[in-house]
Amino acid sequence: MGRFYLTTPIYYVNDLPHIGHIYTTVVADTLARYRRLAGDEVYFLTGTDEHGQKIEEAARDAGVEPLALADRVVARYHELWRRLGISHDDFIRTTEERHKRGVREMIARIAERGDFYTARHEGWYCPACEAFYTEKELLPGRLCPDHRTEVEWKSEDNVFFRLSRYQGPLLEWYATGAVRPRTRANEVRAFVEAGLRDLSVSRTSVSWGIPFPGHPGHVTYVWLDALSNYVTALGFGAAGDGRGEEAALYRRLWQEGGERFHLIGKDILRFHAVYWPAFLMSAGVPLPTTVFAHGWWLRDDRKMSKSLGNVARPDELMERLGADALRYFLLREMVFGQDASFSDEAVVDRYNGDLANGLGNTLSRLVTLSRRAFDGRTPPAGGARLESAAAAAARDYRQGMDGLEPHRALEALWRLLAEVNQHVVTHEPWKLLKDEDRRGEVAAVLWEGLEALRIVAVGLLPVMPETAARVLRAVGAAVPQGGELEAAMAWGGLGGGVELAEPAALFPREDKESYFATGVARSPAAPAVEERRSAMEEPSRNAGAPGPEAVPAAAAEARPAPLGIEDFLRVELKVARVEAAEEVPKSSKLVKLTVDLGGERRTVVAGIRKSYAPEQLVGRQVVIVANLQPAKLMGIESQGMVLAASLDGEAVLLRPDAEVPAGTRVR
Ligand code: MSP
Repeated sequence: MGRFYLTTPIYYVNDLPHIGHIYTTVVADTLARYRRLAGDEVYFLTGTDEHGQKIEEAARDAGVEPLALADRVVARYHELWRRLGISHDDFIRTTEERHKRGVREMIARIAERGDFYTARHEGWYCPACEAFYTEKELLPGRLCPDHRTEVEWKSEDNVFFRLSRYQGPLLEWYATGAVRPRTRANEVRAFVEAGLRDLSVSRTSVSWGIPFPGHPGHVTYVWLDALSNYVTALGFGAAGDGRGEEAALYRRLWQEGGERFHLIGKDILRFHAVYWPAFLMSAGVPLPTTVFAHGWWLRDDRKMSKSLGNVARPDELMERLGADALRYFLLREMVFGQDASFSDEAVVDRYNGDLANGLGNTLSRLVTLSRRAFDGRTPPAGGARLESAAAAAARDYRQGMDGLEPHRALEALWRLLAEVNQHVVTHEPWKLLKDEDRRGEVAAVLWEGLEALRIVAVGLLPVMPETAARVLRAVGAAVPQGGELEAAMAWGGLGGGVELAEPAALFPREDKESYFATGVARSPAAPAVEERRSAMEEPSRNAGAPGPEAVPAAAAEARPAPLGIEDFLRVELKVARVEAAEEVPKSSKLVKLTVDLGGERRTVVAGIRKSYAPEQLVGRQVVIVANLQPAKLMGIESQGMVLAASLDGEAVLLRPDAEVPAGTRVR
């Protein structure tokens, strides 16, 4: 039995998670569940990164204290992880005392090694990255290479860390293969080979952070603070010397062998594969055994990110399709390690194709036939025609999961599913049913199909925990527990004569047209206004989406109920006249409209620029949702939403059939 300590990055609390953030956590959760099922001792950590300039500024903008902002966002994170079925063992916040104590210990050990000195620091600084860049690294126009926002010149006295000392040891460490995949290791090696400059690890221009011991007026650089979470959560520094009772977890999971695995996105590779190991070497602490950097979710060919204003949020997707469908999509669609494009259309296609059709229909067909033929039970056990296909799928599945290629593991399961379908179609058990003499044959065909499906479901447990457990129960099988993977994937586990419940639809098919018409998703045709709800909003019962308590665990899978008339009437649709229209800078889609709502003037941002030039809009009447929670889009507060039909990539605005006074209600 191996020991597996697995971490996600800790998330900034200046925003709610989008699909890109969720991805890291969903992959980590899948790995954690897989390793538990395979029999390893797993400890899975996630958490939040709450200090630094970014958070300080976001709190100032929201008019609250940084900790109050963090508390609010952290509550949303907990809720989201619960709905997504994330099985972490601990959640660390960098504002917790246990963390601050550990950071002080890390600093004390690095100081003891003589790796700090004070000097003046000047350079180009991106507040969003909280990092300095050289002139050469910037994009034309002095833009941050990651956020494409302007960098600022910063000059202050800082404590420096002697990073340059660690060039040789870092290169030796890369040779152990700890940084993965190989392409990322090459990038990071080239960066280190080019020479390392010492790193400033304190700030005097920021006050929201952990005071840097021995340097009044300085706070600890947020990355030295944040990276330390991976050991502070285990009790590093809890007893002052790291050897006390409180540090049992730290000793067990960090000092005494086993895997120490950091899963991250490629944008934070340098911090994890250069700075973090150098800090650890300096402090005399063991290094992680693996730093794995995955690729990015892109939208419109650019990294999905808040500052680019192109994020997809998980809430609506989960509400409509269920958390498991989202988990499946993320793991199946992205080749782990590479970039992938996110589109709502691809989500619906996978949902209908792989889940509703592939998994759901196969299950209901087999269960329905078995119930009919065998008095509501599984057929007598026996048959082996799918055994070798199942063994091959189990082997490929395990290779995929062990080799950190979950998309391949899923492909293997779906290959088996296709074989099951083929098997049923070839043998046509529904025809044999009529013939009493051929009951043995019917039993074998159905039992073989159900048994193979059981094996598929076992493999799916780490990816779609709820759904896989439902499939297992539906075919009359037990849900395997920790350590039972090997046995559960072997042929022959399904009993005969086990009672079967009437099958419920696992994934009701989504009608694509109505899916996009209801505005749940961004239509492939007409890009809608994004970021409807601001991350900073207080969770509110009236905000449209259900608040935390309103969403029971099972609801993540539920379908939305039909809208009652009283609910519909809460939506204030009104006619407005466009008084002015202008392009939104740095956005290819958005137009800023100033509209007259009958004596009231509003600003509304609409994603219609591809279909309408601003000058075409002035003077015309439009229909807007007038009581929508305001949301910031590319820094502009939008106080409503314009309604448009979507047609072959074009947005077609709605307007009343005849001129009516501005402000007239539409219903
Ligand atoms: N707080 C730091 C991490 C500190 S770890 C000691 C941070 N936080 S973050 O909230 O901005 O990002 C967290 C994770 O989300 C990172 O792994 C990042 O790569 C990932 N993603 C953010 N946008 C992403 C995509 N568009 N696609 C995939 N993952 C991306 O960085």
